[in-house]
Amino acid sequence: MRQTVVPATRLSGTLTLPGDKSISHRLGMLASLAEGTSIIRNYSTGADCHSTLGCVQALGIEVDEEGTTVKIHGKGLDGWTAPTRDLDAGNSGSTIRMMSGLLAAQSFESTIFGDESLSRRPMDRVMKPLSLMGAKIDARENRFPPLTIHGAGKLTPIDYTLPVASAQVKTCVLFGGIFAEGETIVREPMRSRDHSEIALKGFGADLTVVQKVVTLQGRPKLEAREITVPSDLSGAAFFLVAALIVPGSDLIIRGVGLNPTRSALLDFMLSAGAKIKVLKLESVNGEPVGDIQVQYAPVKGGVIEGDLTAAVIDEIPVLAVLGAASEEGLIIQNAQELRIKETDRIATVAENFSRMGIAVEVTPDGMVIPGKQKFKAANFDSFGDHRIAMAFAVAALAADGPSTMENAEAASVSFPEFWGLLGQIAG
Ligand code: S3P
Repeated sequence: MRQTVVPATRLSGTLTLPGDKSISHRLGMLASLAEGTSIIRNYSTGADCHSTLGCVQALGIEVDEEGTTVKIHGKGLDGWTAPTRDLDAGNSGSTIRMMSGLLAAQSFESTIFGDESLSRRPMDRVMKPLSLMGAKIDARENRFPPLTIHGAGKLTPIDYTLPVASAQVKTCVLFGGIFAEGETIVREPMRSRDHSEIALKGFGADLTVVQKVVTLQGRPKLEAREITVPSDLSGAAFFLVAALIVPGSDLIIRGVGLNPTRSALLDFMLSAGAKIKVLKLESVNGEPVGDIQVQYAPVKGGVIEGDLTAAVIDEIPVLAVLGAASEEGLIIQNAQELRIKETDRIATVAENFSRMGIAVEVTPDGMVIPGKQKFKAANFDSFGDHRIAMAFAVAALAADGPSTMENAEAASVSFPEFWGLLGQIAG
């Protein structure tokens, strides 16, 4: 699908965004292992989180969907049954990596695969700790999907230090640890998003977090719950940047997840001079949630490096757009993980920048983006990557004429409502 985006004069309105993708995945998986029916409200509408639901259904779990409310009829820790078909993770790295931990402990064999993009993403980062737990997994070239997981029946607990800051890998080990008798310990180089820890505790698991060390007691009894998922801060990021590059803009985004392991994005924007306010802050099922107001203000730019890079990794494509419009430009370092996301996001950002006449210096682990650049209308491509589609749709709002986005449907991976909402706020 090709989408046209016309430049906007000012953006205004109040938005409610779909449920957080990271949280929805975890709740979908854990609810399928809990005893009884969980009701999850504001479940992500994205294709990725539906890949997760498709997998748990293929494992014999009944799922009912009414709008964005999902009911999952869990059958307890030992309730999954051998799938009659291979499990389709679609485009979703979270689905394949997190599910692997759960599948490794089953008493049956399963194969999990993904689309062309996912088939190029490395899985050895989860295969290694799972093999230490006693799992047997075959992969194409020993690291790429599809994965054939010869269920070990049960796993051995491990004390594992993550070599990279990855919440997906942390979650995979913890999810394996559910089926390991004794203590599974994960040590992180920095605190990655902690939605799994919050969700596991919420379902009744015995889990402690001391600084960067997470300890889970195996074989918890997980109990069904009623939970509301906050709106996705990573989805909100596109609208925050849109308001910061289109003069006169004023937006309110309601009910956004503001978990501190995700909200470094806001801290960075604030430190760069963005006019952002959190209007109402409350805790919903253990996750901080608030309304965010963003108003146009010139933004300084800055440096994203080290732990900050890991904390805002999903938002870097759209922050790069902000950087090009900023006063002083943006330097992004230590972002080699971008090269193994849904696309090589350093390459796809640079390609779309060059189409719109934006200067950028590409480095092996980041980009140097001069500030005060003028955006030219262009024919962009998402390259099948949802965050690239949305980041450059935002850039197009500040261009000097109408732009087009090829493969615009990619946005549906996390945010099917994106194009409609963009049209709504641009009037
Ligand atoms: C995610 C963790 C991050 C992030 C991804 C979602 C999660 O990936 O980029 O979009 O929900 O745990 P890594 O674990 O590879 O850092």
